[in-house]
Amino acid sequence: MRTVATKEALREALREPRRAGRTIGLVPTMGALHEGHLSLIRAARGRCDVVVVTLFVNPTQFGPGEDLDAYPHDFDRDAELAAEHGADLMFAPSVEEMYGGGVATAVEVTELTEVLCGAPEHRGSDHFRGVTTVVAKLLNIARPDVAFFGQKDAQQAIVIRRMVEDLDFPVRIDVEPTVREHDGLAMSSRNRYLSAGERERALALSAALDAAEAVAASDESSVDAILDAARARLADAGIDPEYLEARDAEDLSPVQSLNGRPILVAVAARIGRARLIDNVLIGT
Ligand code: PAJ
Repeated sequence: MRTVATKEALREALREPRRAGRTIGLVPTMGALHEGHLSLIRAARGRCDVVVVTLFVNPTQFGPGEDLDAYPHDFDRDAELAAEHGADLMFAPSVEEMYGGGVATAVEVTELTEVLCGAPEHRGSDHFRGVTTVVAKLLNIARPDVAFFGQKDAQQAIVIRRMVEDLDFPVRIDVEPTVREHDGLAMSSRNRYLSAGERERALALSAALDAAEAVAASDESSVDAILDAARARLADAGIDPEYLEARDAEDLSPVQSLNGRPILVAVAARIGRARLIDNVLIGT
């Protein structure tokens, strides 16, 4: 695996394979790689000829008071893991390389970014503007055939799909299932912030989603019953979530009743220093 730090070096490295008609897969990450990221790299390895992993802790998607400065870094380990799981190239630019020229332009997806994590009382839609702007840049720099994202960040994947559709990016978006620890906790770079006791409490998030799924599978279920079951499980662990909501899995519109369309049950909660999110798709 080769590591490159400049846009020009990445473009140059991809010139020949692209000319030869080899397909390019892109896996954008902020590093601190775990099994969730590695599953995306393996998926890309299985489907594309050239696999590019990007490692960039994007400052513009962190709000004031968020964990930008504390965000875990381990470049050597990340490079080793990415290579082991099939990456051909790692693009690890500096902030200067990505934003040195200043940023007068942003890519903003409306509506989808104003609910759940994007609600003003939570992370806010500026977070997603940071994400879509950097992903648009990465897509333009690498020009992949397929870009890989995780279902763990369900809203992010929906927002990126919409951006790609609305702006006619010539790329396919592939969304891979959430990878979990053996006990159900969704893998996240932010799990490192949890103490042993907090990690134990954090398990209530996936347990709450399991409870939601179980109710959904029963005969007389309703959206209220699904959310009540999840809320009760969170309350048992003393967790008052930032949000726990059921939304249409495609357009994130609110759902009041089960209408045969897939729904996304999504939760966010602060546990100690960590803000954790998780979700389950029901009816797919
Ligand atoms: P990051 O949090 O590093 O995640 C990179 C990719 O890994 C995202 O697509 C995310 O959904 C996926 N991922 C994280 N945890 C996962 C898990 N447990 N199972 C499956 N996939 C998982 O998301 C970002 O970075 C950034 O917003 C980024 C898209 C790179 C833009 O800066």
